Amino acid sequence: DKGNYSHFMAKEIHEQPEVVGRTIAHYVDLANGVVALPDTVNIDFAAIDRLVVVGCGTAFYAGAIAKYWFEQLAGLPVEIDVASEFRYREPPLSGRGLALFISQSGETADTLASLRYTQQGGWPSLAVVNVQTSTIARESTMMAPTLAGPEIGVASTKAFTCQLAVLLALAIHAGRVRGVLSAEREQELVGALVGVPALMNRVLAHETDVEVVARDLTHTTDVLYLGRGLSYPLALEGALKLKELSYIHAEGYAAGELKHGPIALIDETIPVIVIAPRDGVFEKTVSNIQEVAARGGNIILIGDRSAASEVGIAGETAIEMPPVHPVVVPLIYAIPVQLLAYHTARVMGKDVDQPRNLAKSVTVE
Ligand code: M6R
Repeated sequence: DKGNYSHFMAKEIHEQPEVVGRTIAHYVDLANGVVALPDTVNIDFAAIDRLVVVGCGTAFYAGAIAKYWFEQLAGLPVEIDVASEFRYREPPLSGRGLALFISQSGETADTLASLRYTQQGGWPSLAVVNVQTSTIARESTMMAPTLAGPEIGVASTKAFTCQLAVLLALAIHAGRVRGVLSAEREQELVGALVGVPALMNRVLAHETDVEVVARDLTHTTDVLYLGRGLSYPLALEGALKLKELSYIHAEGYAAGELKHGPIALIDETIPVIVIAPRDGVFEKTVSNIQEVAARGGNIILIGDRSAASEVGIAGETAIEMPPVHPVVVPLIYAIPVQLLAYHTARVMGKDVDQPRNLAKSVTVE
């Protein structure tokens, strides 16, 4: 049932404050402002020295974001791979490791094969899954559910942000047990996580601003999506969403990679979408924006206007975002990224919920 929405995807985007809030409540002791993991997740993060993260598509990008969190908040080395590469590369499973699998459906063939590979190698596994009765949920040693509810649209939206909420809670927990985070810092981070649903609602209220930008994108054939730090995997996710729904060619790049090749593409015809929150790498992103501007590039900035005006680029802000704690940027900035792909495809008359050639669950390799 699509309710009042014209597509499942629109409904699922708008459900995010609710389902992400529900997911957070499953991992956080709200009264004490600390992470409290459910019984299904029984791992001592202080007893491991290596985390291997595996997934496909959007689930892989959630893992790529989690790499930054586990490394920065918990000092835990993370390797991340797409499942189709991991399973055939057969990487050595040495040391005291944990394998983390991320999957909405829990039935993705390559992810399941990767899980079986790590099980055979004797590693414990933890699956972040949405379908709790799925094969991956059943076969993994431990399960961390996302409480997104059924996701019908082929494009992953609410499953993605729920995955991020679980992964951030796990990273904060790991940071505490590994002695990296102080009690004050944990409270600050949990406070930022708990504040996510309200901020999502605030951003959703400005949907029409995103629609205006989307209408411009319908006339283009190529898009570059840039970000740094946590916003780099989100740029990759933005490019994936745009191409799978609108069939516009989109590429995501780490903003710092621009001058190593893709800057050659820049002219006034190619929209360059830059995810630029005020975070620890904001100044660096700003210099990349200036490089694009100097070459006549058509910049579409998704960012915090007060930060942008301090550095003289407020005029470039196409999608204005509220101030956000840097650690939860991917959860909040996912909304305009999803809406941009949705509205572009919708205005172009594409089949948003069932894009050509795609299946919701890829159970064959
Ligand atoms: O069910 P899974 O999370 O394992 O699916 C992984 C990918 O197939 C999925 O995220 C795909 O990339 C989506 N179409 C992205 O919107």
